[in-house]
Amino acid sequence: MQCLQDISALRNTLDAHRRAGRIIGLVPTMGNLHEGHLALVAEARRRADVVVATIFVNPTQFGPDEDLDAYPRTLEADRHKLAEAGCDLLFAPSETTIYPRGGNAQTRVSVPDVSEGLCGGSRPGHFDGVATVVTMLFNLVQPDLACFGEKDYQQLAVIRRLVDDLHLPIEIVGVPIVRDHDGLALSSRNGYLNTEQRRTAAVLQRTLRELRDALEGGAAIEPTLATGLARLREAGFEPDYLELRATDLGPVEASTRDAVLLAAARLGPARLIDNLSLTLP
Ligand code: PAJ
Repeated sequence: MQCLQDISALRNTLDAHRRAGRIIGLVPTMGNLHEGHLALVAEARRRADVVVATIFVNPTQFGPDEDLDAYPRTLEADRHKLAEAGCDLLFAPSETTIYPRGGNAQTRVSVPDVSEGLCGGSRPGHFDGVATVVTMLFNLVQPDLACFGEKDYQQLAVIRRLVDDLHLPIEIVGVPIVRDHDGLALSSRNGYLNTEQRRTAAVLQRTLRELRDALEGGAAIEPTLATGLARLREAGFEPDYLELRATDLGPVEASTRDAVLLAAARLGPARLIDNLSLTLP
């Protein structure tokens, strides 16, 4: 696996692949890779001739009180995992490569509607940071396709929308959530949990499953969500939100069948997110 940090080296290498007619697949990450990230690499491997992963802990998507400094940086281990997973090229740029003007960069990409509420509500500016850096990565790599996890459901919706609005010729592939043995969605932030919190963390997914079963059985939405919130609080979570939305993140209406439960909750030092699709009766 080739590892590059500079934009010009990346462009030269990818130009050669493109001239040879190879399909390029992109997997953007912030590193500290786990099986969830590697599932994206495997999906890209199935669909592309050249798999490019990026590792960049993007400062502009972290709020002032968030975990930018604490975010785990494990480049060496990540390199080995990517190489083993069949990644061809790792692009791991420095902060000054991506933001040469530091905090003075002027251009932003924002996708207001889809970014509103849910994680956009509890993390103001987060999705502008994501949309801007992902647009840059799309522009640097110019992939034919890019894989994103369904774990970050709203992020995936933001990216689909920006690709559509900007006419970017990139196929966006959503990859199902990879979970631990007890159902907890794998996340780099799970490493912040102590043993007891780690045990409690599985309640998030269990609660979503119970709510799904109740809603699919015809239970009324508002009281069911209220029960879910109470259950999360009892277990020790501080929920940011627990919502039922249509799969395009629009409101649930009388005619809505395909829906998704979305939750974000703090547990000790970690903010965990999860979601579960369901079919309303
Ligand atoms: P990061 O949190 O590192 O996640 C990178 C990709 O891995 C995202 O598409 C995310 O949805 C996916 N992913 C994480 N955990 C997963 C799991 N358990 N199952 C399936 N997929 C999972 O998301 C980001 O980085 C950043 O916002 C980024 C898109 C790289 C922009 O900076």
